[in-house]
Amino acid sequence: MKLLVTGGAGYIGGVVAAKLAEAGHEVTVLDDLSTGHADAVHPAVTLIRGSLRHDAKAALGGDTDAVLHFAAHSLVGESVADPAKYWSNNLGGTLALLNAMREAGVRRIVFSSTAAVYGEPEATPITETAPTRPTSPYGASKLAIDTTLAEYARMHGLGAVSLRYFNVAGAYQAATGDWFGERHDPETHLIPNVLGRGETRGSVRINGVDYPTPDGTCVRDYIHVSDLADAHLLALGATEPEGHRVYNLGNGAGFSVRQVIDACRDVTGRDITVEEGPRRAGDPAVLVASSARISSDLGWHATRDLRDMIADAWRFVQERSARVRAGR
Ligand code: UFG
Repeated sequence: MKLLVTGGAGYIGGVVAAKLAEAGHEVTVLDDLSTGHADAVHPAVTLIRGSLRHDAKAALGGDTDAVLHFAAHSLVGESVADPAKYWSNNLGGTLALLNAMREAGVRRIVFSSTAAVYGEPEATPITETAPTRPTSPYGASKLAIDTTLAEYARMHGLGAVSLRYFNVAGAYQAATGDWFGERHDPETHLIPNVLGRGETRGSVRINGVDYPTPDGTCVRDYIHVSDLADAHLLALGATEPEGHRVYNLGNGAGFSVRQVIDACRDVTGRDITVEEGPRRAGDPAVLVASSARISSDLGWHATRDLRDMIADAWRFVQERSARVRAGR
């Protein structure tokens, strides 16, 4: 298939684009490189530097079969500080993309949604029928896009799948031997932050130790980026005209911030020191997924656990710092 991957120079979009290309698809990435990196694009993938608002139509061309849509701002804390940035880029950008798709006659989309649409859950694990009450503008903007996709499916015959990711971690080694992993600047995500500190021997701040959880720190459900990418390939095959499906994607197990740090110490052999800080605005206490729906509909199952994620992320961190040291 001929596929457009928006945001494919970012962490998750980059891994999905690589896996799609390795599966034999013809893949183009549209990315403005505001947070992505040109060298995070697989060599078999074409990169167009541009925005959803101005360049989606040209990037789609005349014969694209489907879009995988990742391009978005994605930081919970930043969205609380600057909500307009999230509404404008995430919802506004997606509306521009959907209009370009209609003009180009492209009727299939897989969308990168998030567990942040649920907010503080009433029950755990979270199913797709749980109430959606986002606690951050980030989650609210993604929920608005899920709603838009449902409307476009009903009104314009779009075939859409929203994948609601829980906490994505790990790295992917492509058949070329290259590693694709997480690198943000500044880095706010827990695992790369902890591993970065392991590398530089700085200390990690825990954002809140007074949550109503067994050890007082937030509990999250971590999913390996390679398992997540496999779900996108399955979802692509499940898009059908006038249909909008929603699937949660997680491993179904919760780990606290302290447990993740302990696992990082274990994998790296480094003595990572911590400091206890205040809560971060917009963080729900516990987010754990039920992925039963995608398992039963599409046969998806997680194959890698938290230790695998940390081991792969650590390998990526070390490969990158070796490359930087060697000036490559
Ligand atoms: N945390 C720390 N110290 C750090 C970094 C993070 O204590 O240095 C804490 C956070 O406050 C949170 C937990 O670790 O309690 C996980 O934080 P992340 O920033 O790694 O991830 P989030 O849970 O905030 O968000 C991620 C994605 C969102 C997605 C969400 C769904 O970034 O896009 O998972 O669960 F919506």
